[in-house]
Amino acid sequence: MRTSRGFLVEFVEDRWKALEIIGLYYKGPVKYAKAVLEKWPKSNGIVALIGGAAAGAEIFYKVDLLTPACVHYYIAVVPEHRNRGVATQIVQRVEKLCTAPVYMATTTEDNAAALRLFTKLGYTPHRWEDIPRRARDFLLKATCGYDDDVLFIKGADPREVAQRTNDVEKFWLETCLKPYLSL
Ligand SMILES: CC(C)(COP(=O)(O)OP(=O)(O)OC[C@H]1O[C@@H](n2cnc3c(N)ncnc32)[C@H](O)[C@@H]1OP(=O)(O)O)[C@@H](O)C(=O)NCCC(=O)NCCS
Repeated sequence: MRTSRGFLVEFVEDRWKALEIIGLYYKGPVKYAKAVLEKWPKSNGIVALIGGAAAGAEIFYKVDLLTPACVHYYIAVVPEHRNRGVATQIVQRVEKLCTAPVYMATTTEDNAAALRLFTKLGYTPHRWEDIPRRARDFLLKATCGYDDDVLFIKGADPREVAQRTNDVEKFWLETCLKPYLSL
């Protein structure tokens, strides 16, 4: 696929290479990404290639809310390939690989590139503090988005899908709480 700026992007599914790229270019701890890949069977990673070299990567997973949801968990593009439409292609590719009625991502309010990326792809931003408490607590668990300020969601209103499920409880315990406590 070519990006809107004309760059030809190819994709490979490779969870450990994706983790390596995220580790290099994502500012912040990646222990949660590693835990998801190791402990959550409904997870995967893709690497975007330009000219055969890694240009970016994403780690994503599925979890059951009231309906299944796909979460764009970690995404990063190699600095020299930024602003060329690579992340746009990655998010669209993940939506095809991880088909679900609902898609989510979280980010910080100061991340202009991520805010633009998800907004232009049809995701609605909600500040965590604007989501009613029960729905917020549940969606924080489903995304492990505690370090972020904004939830992006496509396909549903956050209140409609936020109903306690065993899947979310298990996801949160194994891949979010335990790594947080370094267990
Ligand atoms: C966020 C990130 C993945 C975006 O990757 P990218 O390949 O540069 O994104 P794209 O080129 O597909 O651009 C997506 C949109 O954001 C806009 N954009 C890109 N960088 C931007 C910036 N620094 N400020 C504002 N808008 C920006 C683009 O113009 C584009 O919008 P448009 O199509 O309307 O022009 C990349 O900046 C990155 O790796 N950041 C570090 C890791 C990170 O923050 N990950 C996200 C955590 S949720």
